[in-house]
Amino acid sequence: MAKEFRRYLVTSALPYANGPVHIGHLAGVYIPSDIYTRYLRLKGCDVISVCGSDEHGVPITIKARREGVTPQEIVDRYHELIKRSFERLGMSFDIYSRTSSPTHAVTASEFFRKLYDEGKFIERTSMQFYDEEAQTFLADRYITGTCPRCGNDRAYGDQCEKCGSTLSPDELVDPRSAVSGAVPVKRETKHWYLPLDRYEEFLREWILDGHKEWRANVYGQCKSWLDGGLQPRAVSRDLDWGIPVPVEGAEGKVLYVWFDAPIGYISATKDLTPDWEKYWKSEDTKMVHFIGKDNIVFHCIVFPAMLKAHGGYILPENVPANEFLNLEGEKISTSRNWAVWLHEYLDEFPGKEDVLRYVLCASAPEAKDNDFTWKDFQARNNNELVAVLGNFVNRALVLTQKYYGGEVPECGALTDYDRATIGELSQIKGALENAIENYKFREALKEAMNFARIGNKYLADTEPWKVVKSDPERVKTILNIALQITANTAVAIEPFMPFSAARILGMLAAEPFGWERLGSMEMLAAGHRIGEPALLFEKIEDEVIDRQLAKLAATKELNARAEAEKNVEKQKDTVQFDDFGRMDIRVATVLAAEKVAKTKKLLKLTVDTGIDRREIVSGIAEHYAPEELVGRQVLVLVNLAPRTLKGIESRGMILMAEDADGKLRLLQPDAAAMNGAVVG
Ligand code: 2FM
Ligand code: ZN
Repeated sequence: MAKEFRRYLVTSALPYANGPVHIGHLAGVYIPSDIYTRYLRLKGCDVISVCGSDEHGVPITIKARREGVTPQEIVDRYHELIKRSFERLGMSFDIYSRTSSPTHAVTASEFFRKLYDEGKFIERTSMQFYDEEAQTFLADRYITGTCPRCGNDRAYGDQCEKCGSTLSPDELVDPRSAVSGAVPVKRETKHWYLPLDRYEEFLREWILDGHKEWRANVYGQCKSWLDGGLQPRAVSRDLDWGIPVPVEGAEGKVLYVWFDAPIGYISATKDLTPDWEKYWKSEDTKMVHFIGKDNIVFHCIVFPAMLKAHGGYILPENVPANEFLNLEGEKISTSRNWAVWLHEYLDEFPGKEDVLRYVLCASAPEAKDNDFTWKDFQARNNNELVAVLGNFVNRALVLTQKYYGGEVPECGALTDYDRATIGELSQIKGALENAIENYKFREALKEAMNFARIGNKYLADTEPWKVVKSDPERVKTILNIALQITANTAVAIEPFMPFSAARILGMLAAEPFGWERLGSMEMLAAGHRIGEPALLFEKIEDEVIDRQLAKLAATKELNARAEAEKNVEKQKDTVQFDDFGRMDIRVATVLAAEKVAKTKKLLKLTVDTGIDRREIVSGIAEHYAPEELVGRQVLVLVNLAPRTLKGIESRGMILMAEDADGKLRLLQPDAAAMNGAVVG
């Protein structure tokens, strides 16, 4: 027998306030959590949904340093942006809080202090990198050096972004502090550790025996962590941004962000209601954490161990973590700007909040990584939302206006086909509920759309626009049924597409029906007057999609350029002015060009240097065809000692720019110059 719960506590991963939210976050965490919460609310359950910004951690301090502002300015900026974007998308959190709130500082400190006082932590000293110039310990990210695997000289202490290796600062060759550039030294430091190994038995029993129903990806990750053996984890850091460790002698130390962030769920609940303990401390509350797969270990292993160590708190019933969403076949990346940002989408697609909600739910990465493409976005909008949902609702309402002046007609005798249709509809509610309660939101959305799909088919099969001429009584029944299906559709899609559900209700001139009436064929009484129909969705044209694709293409180009710039050759040793003065560089014109026989790379150029006519052999055959060169002005180092190549005496060098990838480009004056003009 499944356990019965009296109330629900839904949490959604607290986004880091160091950048905006993108479609990957939405599909992975926020859309599913909002669907689940809205569904429970519609059913009349006691449910609260909490979220907020995660405002601590090293990435925030790095961003602040890079921009020359304070971490507070960074989190204020992104907290506001994220909060506002979520509201615009119709996210229905009961509270969107932040971990810089006073309540959170108190809650997290008290949590730590209780564990500390009860001896639940162990203290350890270790040697960590320290920047003597800046007088600060260095987080792994703040140490740069050469990657021992690929030689990239810009690797971080925790990762090399070039070859993707996970590193530890000790592995870096020539480590440097990213704060001051100084060579860091090792210094002893003390930290508090949560001995996860002491909770292994409890976690094994609770997850591996007790929660076999969890998603395979979540259960599997937990199992492999547990099978690998758990180690004590540091819960403090040497950093000046975060919640100070609330014990004496801990100056300059803050709580590790992954210690304080999940406590943020508790603080948010406290800020929401004085009755917060009812949600956190009562066994008949069902707590569900919505997260992305990179957060599994923290929500299934670390946080539960913290809650267990503290005592008095409930544990999550489920943690339906999603996999990752890719964008146009590539991993979404904040640093490479490879994302569709929510705030930009909302600005560029006003009134299309539900389209994004729909597409992201329909292609949510529930069991495996999935891909978002703009073409798919367009196809789902045009073929599903416009052609099925919008079309059905519109036809039902327009025909009612046309034939009955907007009054819901009576339902007369039912045909076998009517009964079969109604029978089919009556199956949906159970399937829909079952899917949502098992966190299968893609399947649930399909079920909800089935009301419109069946309704659309019903109208196409019964053809009221034809029958009206021969059997007007029959049409009353058809449209009564079509309108009941429309009302059902409004209820069924509400968790997924709240804006469209509200618009349908508005067009039906009806108050919200409540989930319990879903499946009823008596939602709208005969004689009720509906409102004016309007189009629910509009077709998205190719040029709109092309603009988005062009935006991504531009990003790609920028990234490629930035990538190439990373490989720019180091500056050579300093030279004196006289050294440069000895180079005699002149403007010259190419008079003739031909390939040097039996070579791939060489061209023989005849140039007029203003001083004389001479031949120069140049390695540009793979970059320029001979005919492209004739008549062009170039720059020539004329006093280079002659060399004989393939039997040709080459007297000088044509100057060129060479990209990191070896591509050569000729340099030439930006307007015609005299041959022999001196360059310098
Ligand atoms: O991965 C992230 O974006 C984290 N900021 C999630 C934190 S979830 C919770 F523990 F607060
Ligand atoms: Zn590397």
